[in-house]
Amino acid sequence: MSTIQLHDLQFEPFLSDATIQNRVAELGATLTASHAQLQPVFMVMLKGAFVFATDLVRYFQGDAEVSFVRTRSYQGTNTTHQVELLLAPTTEEVHGRHIILVEDIVDSGNTMASFLPQLQAQSPASITLVSLLFKPDMLEQKVNIDHVGFVIPPKFVVGYGLDYNGLGRNLKAIFQLKE
Ligand code: IMP
Ligand code: MG
Repeated sequence: MSTIQLHDLQFEPFLSDATIQNRVAELGATLTASHAQLQPVFMVMLKGAFVFATDLVRYFQGDAEVSFVRTRSYQGTNTTHQVELLLAPTTEEVHGRHIILVEDIVDSGNTMASFLPQLQAQSPASITLVSLLFKPDMLEQKVNIDHVGFVIPPKFVVGYGLDYNGLGRNLKAIFQLKE
């Protein structure tokens, strides 16, 4: 792997395809141990988690369903970040179900701090939050993440679903911004 360019920025290799696959397989095994008999709903946070989720569901051994949610975070006129639900889960997908919420990265925590109470309000049997990446140094809101793939430094990353202005999602590995 070598340095890549997306738009105006350069990114260098950070997590290889093999490193990611090994960790996602472990996460799949962990979820199999906890959820194999529960017929969980893998709820995929679009767009960023789509690649992680396609691998994770295939490492899960047991009956499972899949649903998709799309949020958009924007900053209002005050300092509070608001999160808009562009595609919301249906009641059937949530009520009484064991939800495995699949996120690409928890950065400020604003997306999850806003979305989790909305999901909780639809009365799921349980919610398990799985995030491939976590940047603890960037956290503004307390978020309980049940399973983290990799704890990473506060640097912008792309690949394996994550983008920089729309590009980079299709990269098999994860790259970090070159300074
Ligand atoms: P939050 O700040 O925890 O609400 O994260 C919001 C969203 O920002 C994440 O779900 C990602 O889609 C995106 N994001 C945060 N950090 C990065 C990054 O380093 N690269 C690409 N997208 C990111
Ligand atoms: Mg996201």
